[in-house]
Amino acid sequence: MILKKYHIIFLFQLFVVGGLLSQTRESIPEVEALLKQMTIDEKIGQLNLLTPGGGVATGSVVSENVEAKIKAGQVGGLFGVSGPERVRMAQKLAVEHSRLKIPLLIGSDVIHGYKTTYPIPLGLSCSWDMDLIEQAARMAATEATADGIMWNFSPMVDIARDPRWGRIAEGAGEDPFLGSAVAKAMVKGYQADDLAAPNTMLACVKHMALYGAAEAGRDYHSVDMGKVKMFNQYLPPYKAAVDAGVACVMTSFNDIDGIPATGNKWLLTDLLRNRWGFKGFVISDYTSVNEMIMHGLGDLQAVSALALKAGLDMDMVGEGFLTTLKKSLEAGNITEDEITQACRRVLEAKHVSGLLKDPYRYSDEKRPKKDILTKENRAFARKLAARSFVLFKNHDQILPLKKEAKIALVGPLADSRKNMLGTWAPTGDTKLAVTILEGFKNVAPSATISHVKGANISDDPEFAKKVNVFGPRIVIDERSPETLLQEAVEAANASDVVVAIVGEATEMSGEAASRTDISIPESQKKLIRALVATGKPVALVLMSGRPLTISEEFEMPVAILQVWHPGVEAGNAVADVVFGDYNPSGKLTTTWPRNVGQIPIYHSVKNTGRPAPKDKFDKFKSHYLDAPNTPLIPFGHGLSYTTFECTDLKLDKSNISERESIEISVTVKNTGNFDGEEVVQLYLRDVVRSITPPIRQLKGFKKVFLKKGESKTVTITLTPDDLKFYNSTLEFVSEPGEFEVFVGTDSNASLQKTFMLR
Ligand code: NOJ
Repeated sequence: MILKKYHIIFLFQLFVVGGLLSQTRESIPEVEALLKQMTIDEKIGQLNLLTPGGGVATGSVVSENVEAKIKAGQVGGLFGVSGPERVRMAQKLAVEHSRLKIPLLIGSDVIHGYKTTYPIPLGLSCSWDMDLIEQAARMAATEATADGIMWNFSPMVDIARDPRWGRIAEGAGEDPFLGSAVAKAMVKGYQADDLAAPNTMLACVKHMALYGAAEAGRDYHSVDMGKVKMFNQYLPPYKAAVDAGVACVMTSFNDIDGIPATGNKWLLTDLLRNRWGFKGFVISDYTSVNEMIMHGLGDLQAVSALALKAGLDMDMVGEGFLTTLKKSLEAGNITEDEITQACRRVLEAKHVSGLLKDPYRYSDEKRPKKDILTKENRAFARKLAARSFVLFKNHDQILPLKKEAKIALVGPLADSRKNMLGTWAPTGDTKLAVTILEGFKNVAPSATISHVKGANISDDPEFAKKVNVFGPRIVIDERSPETLLQEAVEAANASDVVVAIVGEATEMSGEAASRTDISIPESQKKLIRALVATGKPVALVLMSGRPLTISEEFEMPVAILQVWHPGVEAGNAVADVVFGDYNPSGKLTTTWPRNVGQIPIYHSVKNTGRPAPKDKFDKFKSHYLDAPNTPLIPFGHGLSYTTFECTDLKLDKSNISERESIEISVTVKNTGNFDGEEVVQLYLRDVVRSITPPIRQLKGFKKVFLKKGESKTVTITLTPDDLKFYNSTLEFVSEPGEFEVFVGTDSNASLQKTFMLR
C-alpha cells in the first residue's frame, strides 16, 4: 500500500498523539497532592454520583442515606439538589465532615432553560441561529449557577431520524452538520471562557453514543450500526462538543456492536480519548452500569469492573462502583491505577470549576433574586420561542391575524398551562407558563376571543394514565366528546376565524415516551375536521415534541404553524407570531414523514443502484407501492409571511486544491410584503467517491434579515474539511473529482453549480 499524507497523519494521531492524550491533561498539582493522601475507598467514593430524590427521577432507584455517605467520603457529586442554601448545606457535609474535605459536584438537567424555560431543544434548533442558541445556553447557565448548580447534563446531541423515539424532542434533529453547530454553540454558552467563573458551568454532552438510533424508535432499544455510517452521520455532534472543549461526556443506555456504551472500551477509550483527545470525565447515565446486568453481561461486580476498564469515571445512582470496585481490585480484575485515573478526572473537574479553591463559589444567596426569572430573561425566552416556530403552510394568507379579529380559540392545548414547557423541564415551573389564551389577550386586547376546549388531547384513559406520570397533562373532560365538539363548532360559526391549538401533551414525547402512531390523536382530528367543515378560515397551531404524521391536515385549506412546546412564554410568543408582531423564520431540522412506514426518514439519503424515477412507477426501482419516497415536509422547510427568492449563484473558483476553501454566493431578495428572515442553505454532492455518497448533504447555512423589497448577497465558505468524509477505513479524507453545490431555502434547493477538487 502506498502511504498517503493523510494516512501518516491519521496513524500519528492514532498511535502517538492519541496514546499520550488518552492518559490525562497536564497534571494539576492540587489534584495530585490530594490523590497522594487518598485511600482506595476515598478514591472510589469520588466516582459515586447520587440523587437524594425530591426532583424528577428518571429511573426506579433513588439514593439512600446520602448524608451519611457524603460524610464518609463516599460521594463525588449530587444531582437533584438546588438553591444556594441547600447546595451550601450539602457542601458543608463534604467539606466539614469528610476526612479530605473534597467538595461535591452539583449537577442537573438544564435542558431548555433553567427556571426561565425556553423551547424544547428540537424547537430551538429550528431557529438555525447559532448566536441565539449560544445566548440561550448562557442564560440557562447564569440562572442555574445562581441556584448552586455548576454541572449541566446538556447538550443532548443524539442524531435522531426516527420520530417514534420520544427523545427526538431533546436534540437538534437529524443532521450531523447542523447538529455539530448546535453542539458547539451550547457548549460555548454553558462553559464560556472560564469554567471557574461563578456563572459558567461544566457541560456534559450526551448520550455517547448513537442513543437516537434505537431500533424501531423504542427507547433504550439496541443499536446496530456500521462504523462508516456511525462516523459520518451519528458521531460528528459528540465530536464537535469535544472539540469545543466540553468538560464531561455521558454514556448512553444502548449497546453498540453488542457492548453497552457504558462498558464499551472501543467507544470510551479508543475513540473518545485516544482518537478524539477528550481530557474530561465520563459519567454513566442513570443506573446504566447496573443495567448491563439486564443486558446480559454479568453481575454487578463484573459490569462495574467492565465499565471502569472501558473508561467510565463516574457511576450515576447505581452504586456499582461504590460497592464492588474494591472487591474487583482485590480479585485482581482491575488495577489501582485505573481507579486513581478515574478519580483524578473527577477531581480535575472540581479543580477547573473552581470548587477546590472555594467550595461555596456557587452558593451565593443573593444571586437567585438577581439572576433568575428576570424580566430580561423572560423577554429573551419569548424571543427564542417565536424563532423556533415553523410555518408549514398558509392557505389564503390566513396568518397573520388582525388584532381586532373575532376569533374562536379552540383546542385542548389553548388553555393548558401544564403543557407549555415541554418534556424534560424539571427545573421549570408549569405554574409560571403563559397559556395561549392569556398570550392572545396580552398581545391583541382588542380582539374578540371566544375560547372553548373542543376536544380532549386524547379520549383514551389508559393512554392518558401513561402520559400523566408527572401530573395531569391529558385531562379527560367530564363532558362528552360530542358536547365538546358541538361547542367548538358553535364558537367557530360565530367567529371570523378559527385558531385551533392542537397536538401532543408534553409527556407524549421525551424519555420513555415512544409512539408507534405519531399522528394527531383521533379526538383532535375529529375536531379539526369539524372546524374546517364550518368553512371558516382555520389556522392550526400545532404543538408536539416530535415530527407528526399530518398528511390529512396538510391537505386541508388551512394555515399550519408548528410551535413545538415553547416554554414559559408560550402564549405570548405564539400570539406574537399569530398576530404578526414577529414574522416566522423557523426551518425544520427533521424531515416530516407522510406515514410511519417511511421511517427512518432524513434528507441526506443515498441514491441506491436503482433510484426511483420522479413521478412515475417503474418496477424494480427503489420505491414503495403505496406512498412516494418523498416526505410530506422536507428538512429545511419553513415559510414566512413574506416571500424570498434566491438567484445568481456564484462560485469564486471552479477548481480548487485540497487545501483551499471555496466561496459560494447567492443573491437573496425579499419579494413579499413583510420584513423577515430567511435561512439560506447550502447542500453538497460529492459526485463520485470511494464510498456511496448521499445525494446531497447540508454543508453550510446563513440566516439573514431583509426588509421588504431588499436584496442581499449571502456568502457561504466551504472549507477543506467540509469536503471530507470518513472512508471505508475511517480516515477523514476528501477525494478529487466533481462536487455539485445546491443553494436554496430548503433541502430541495434547486440553484446548482459544480466545481472540481484537484
Ligand atoms: C436519564 C437521562 O437519560 C439523562 O439524559 C439524564 O441526564 C439523567 N437521567 C439524569 O437525570
